[in-house]
Amino acid sequence: MKYNRIAIIVAMDKELNLILPLLGRNAINEKCPCDPNVNLWVGKHDNTDIALMKCGIGKVNAALATQAMIQTFRPDLVISTGVAGGVGAAGILDVVVASRLCFHDIWCGPGTEPCVADGCPLFFTPPEHLLALPSLQPSGFLRQGLICSGDFFVSKPEEVALIKSKFPEAQAVEMESGAIAQTCYRNGVDMMAIRVMSDTPGADDNISQYNDFWTAAPERTFGVVKSLLDDLTR
Ligand code: ADE
Repeated sequence: MKYNRIAIIVAMDKELNLILPLLGRNAINEKCPCDPNVNLWVGKHDNTDIALMKCGIGKVNAALATQAMIQTFRPDLVISTGVAGGVGAAGILDVVVASRLCFHDIWCGPGTEPCVADGCPLFFTPPEHLLALPSLQPSGFLRQGLICSGDFFVSKPEEVALIKSKFPEAQAVEMESGAIAQTCYRNGVDMMAIRVMSDTPGADDNISQYNDFWTAAPERTFGVVKSLLDDLTR
């Protein structure tokens, strides 16, 4: 399936700066008419229209920005990318493509299932044909697996243990992709997430891992997202 309008959403300026060169030299910065707090970059990769947006950290920021992106740019695919903490086999600088996404911190009360957002399935899943793309096949540093989102930076071993008790197969934790997936689900837009591991929560000092990561990250993040866009636009 060919997508005509692809949106990429990242949480932070550092991540935006890594991805921006993929939109070509003539990318334009525009304000979202429906939400002046968010702006997006619009450009082309090959001949496909691409929009890039920084949503800010956390689920509410991610949902608001995704809705603004959908109303402004009308994408047929939304890609969530950036960093995550590795809680499975993935080490620092490894890449996890979400074969499924879920929340690890939601409970809507008695009579409801833990981790299920009201009106949604437990797991959000990208279309099979995306997971079958050559650029996303498991290789040395790339794996496919479950990514869990929640509204806090996971750093303590007991936090990791609680998440793994709910989702033993979890590969990565971060703070936006579940909300981006939920917003896309509600709007009927395809969505996928691809994240580079910046730290391994529960390790001795995952805060300094996270701080050190940014010097090594650009090449890996840029390379994987570029190959994905090449697959999607050629
Ligand atoms: N993003 C990157 N590392 C993370 C962590 N340890 N917890 C939540 N989000 C993250």
